[in-house]
Amino acid sequence: MPKHKQKSKTASKAKHKSMSPSFTSPDIDIGISTSDRKKIAQGLSRFLADAYTLYLKTHNFHWNVTGTMFNSLHTMFETQYTEQWQALDDIAERIRALGFVAPGSYSDFVRLSSIREDGQDGGLPDWKGMVQQLVSGNEILCRTAREALKVADNGGDDPSVDLLTTRLQTHEKYAWMLRSLLE
Ligand SMILES: [Fe+2]
Repeated sequence: MPKHKQKSKTASKAKHKSMSPSFTSPDIDIGISTSDRKKIAQGLSRFLADAYTLYLKTHNFHWNVTGTMFNSLHTMFETQYTEQWQALDDIAERIRALGFVAPGSYSDFVRLSSIREDGQDGGLPDWKGMVQQLVSGNEILCRTAREALKVADNGGDDPSVDLLTTRLQTHEKYAWMLRSLLE
């Protein structure tokens, strides 16, 4: 490899170290430029971190919800976290197919996620507070998906566009269903 190429690759790697996923196969050629693949993988990694954090929050609330709404919310949260759990795998595997390492540790997810992970030291919210947090979490996922979708669309990455469009429809629907409980 020519020297100048090695240099620029190292420099760009250092620059994006904190937010960017690492290459596993920098030289793969699936018809999307390396820099576009990297930007798309970065957007998908942020989305995966948000999706994992929301999955965990929804499962936590399934366990800990109390009150007169217990039965319906316990069941509703289970339906949502089960579907979300399945989707995590598709997102991570899409990052792998683009040639990057998928984030998969709690520290990665905390670093990359836009969703605040509330400790339980101050006590759990009541059922309304839980629903409000899940509305907000689903809305955050929609915003992160929209950002990633634009990048995937600009790079001509149809499978990522397809995946993100499906997730967007799902999280917009969850946000609406949860929001309706508060009206
Ligand atoms: Fe359960």
